[in-house]
Amino acid sequence: MTDTANSSSPASEKARVIIFDTTLRDGEQCPGASMTFEEKLQVAELLDDMGVDVIEAGFPIASIGDFESVSEIARRAKRATICGLSRAALNDIDRCAEAVKNAARGRIHTFLSTSPVHMKYKLQKEPHQVLEMIVASVSRARNHVDDVEWSAEDGTRTEMDFLCRCVEAAIDAGATTINIPDTVGYTTPAEYQALFRTVIERVPNSDKAVFSVHCHNDLGMAVANSLAGIAGGARQIECTVNGIGERAGNAALEEVVMAIDTRSDAFPYATGINTRMLTRASKLVSAVTSFPVQYNKAIVGRNAFAHESGIHQDGMLKHTQTYEIMTPDSVGVSKTSLVMGKHSGRAAFRDKLKAMGYELGENALNDAFARFKDLADRKKVVYDEDIEALVDQGIAAAYD
Ligand code: KIV
Ligand code: ZN
Repeated sequence: MTDTANSSSPASEKARVIIFDTTLRDGEQCPGASMTFEEKLQVAELLDDMGVDVIEAGFPIASIGDFESVSEIARRAKRATICGLSRAALNDIDRCAEAVKNAARGRIHTFLSTSPVHMKYKLQKEPHQVLEMIVASVSRARNHVDDVEWSAEDGTRTEMDFLCRCVEAAIDAGATTINIPDTVGYTTPAEYQALFRTVIERVPNSDKAVFSVHCHNDLGMAVANSLAGIAGGARQIECTVNGIGERAGNAALEEVVMAIDTRSDAFPYATGINTRMLTRASKLVSAVTSFPVQYNKAIVGRNAFAHESGIHQDGMLKHTQTYEIMTPDSVGVSKTSLVMGKHSGRAAFRDKLKAMGYELGENALNDAFARFKDLADRKKVVYDEDIEALVDQGIAAAYD
């Protein structure tokens, strides 16, 4: 949807991938990221405006505050589906249904662990009991709403035959979306892609549900794994703004969206996201959670469109595609910044002076550039005011 280097075929010809944002649920679960009621409404409004398809607004049974924010977000949403999370317990599901009932499009998302380690130690249940709970919980949710998502918690560490039986049972009980999370960030792209291929192929009723990826970033592979799951046949990506979430976080929304947008040759899919709002979303989530965005964070970090080295700055001045694979404008950043530092070259320095309104002759430019390099050796970043001062000093010295 944007003017990036490799966008080729029109969005209408591409398979649509549903963007499911869980900033307000999985994102808020990370230590220190809690948001107030008002802040959650603000974030939800922006996500809705940005074109997020499904907003997981919270975990209604967790607290009265969570219940109230999910209800209010459900009431206010203009176009997104509003989803609440619930465990497999029937009272959780009923509470969740109550919270999403005011949404024009409401979804109940219920989950249960399916891996041997979770069933044995966390649930203390036998596999046949887990299967019964899946059927009971999904059926209960389906009595409330038509849109039910079921997640196999710790899906990537689940034994394949059992995973397929669980998925089949959930779809038979009425689940319309099947999410297979990489709960502990353990999988690899090749494994995750194969997992979806196998499940979709083996489960007889798999065509009755949309498959979904949900990846955690413990090994730094959440985005790569998410895209691999899509290549394996999933059509929904669960992600969070700035990648906030449990432990090392979740797949970052802005990264999966821009990977799809920029590399449409490798990922021939379309999302409904207005990518020009990504930077605003990142800034809002960072402000309300007080979680800083790392400087070199892909897409939304403050250095994502900044260049300091002389070689890169010179290239950028000649043609922006020399060192940028997407335009800053495509993600809502007004312009590329050529940061003035000790690695900057003469071309960028001259360009900077011009932008600041200085037209220096060759000798004055050489002199100012030498003093700039000297200053840059002492300071990490040279600001416009520093440049102004050193040029003005040079001009004053010429009159002495
Ligand atoms: O990571 C996970 O498994 C989850 C589920 C509740 C979907 O967040
Ligand atoms: Zn999660």
